[in-house]
Amino acid sequence: MVDSLWLLVFTIAFILVVCNSEANKSSQPHTLILPITKDACTRQYLTHIRQRTPLVVVKLDLHLSGKFLLVECDSRYNSSSYRVASCDSDQCKVVGRWVSECGDCYSSPRPSCNNNTCIVIPDSPIILLATIEELTQDVIKLRSTARSKTGPIIRIPDFLFSC
Ligand SMILES: *[C@@H]1O[C@H](CO)[C@@H](O)[C@H](O)[C@H]1NC(C)=O
Ligand SMILES: *[C@@H]1O[C@H](CO)[C@@H](O)[C@H](O)[C@H]1NC(C)=O
Ligand SMILES: *[C@@H]1O[C@H](CO)[C@@H](O)[C@H](O)[C@H]1NC(C)=O
Repeated sequence: MVDSLWLLVFTIAFILVVCNSEANKSSQPHTLILPITKDACTRQYLTHIRQRTPLVVVKLDLHLSGKFLLVECDSRYNSSSYRVASCDSDQCKVVGRWVSECGDCYSSPRPSCNNNTCIVIPDSPIILLATIEELTQDVIKLRSTARSKTGPIIRIPDFLFSC
């Protein structure tokens, strides 16, 4: 049986709201929420977000001490709002202390294969691996809540993740 609950993620909410450059301060919600389920077989906590243009649902493992959202950018990643962060970008400076180096990719250009990109090393206790990924940004949409009432869906146009 899958155990289902709504978890308030205050830290993520704070970061997301701060990152939301389109938000109007007086109408900002207090908290963003992620739907959490527990997988009965693996006992891992799972969540999902809506990401990209057009939006698709992206399923994620929950790892609260993870430094970066790690998304598998396979051949199906197709988004008109996808942007990769270059080495000298402000986005790369923001994540500075976790950046490894500048990266090139010797294959045909696609999401997760670009030149002169900001490289980050997210670690995953689930796959027991630290992987080398490109710092990337794209649109995400999350539910919000304000004083225990359901708030509007919040669009964050430039959410940083590793790809
Ligand atoms: C923010 O929203 C409020 C109410 O909707 C509006 O009165 C105000 O002018 C907006 N401020 C900005 C900076 O857009
Ligand atoms: C990507 O999406 C666009 C618009 O939805 C579509 O026209 C295009 O064929 C898609 N490309 C791939 C490789 O799926
Ligand atoms: C990156 O640059 C190298 C050398 O100029 C080139 O061979 C390679 O195809 C480029 N990669 C991408 C993804 O454009």
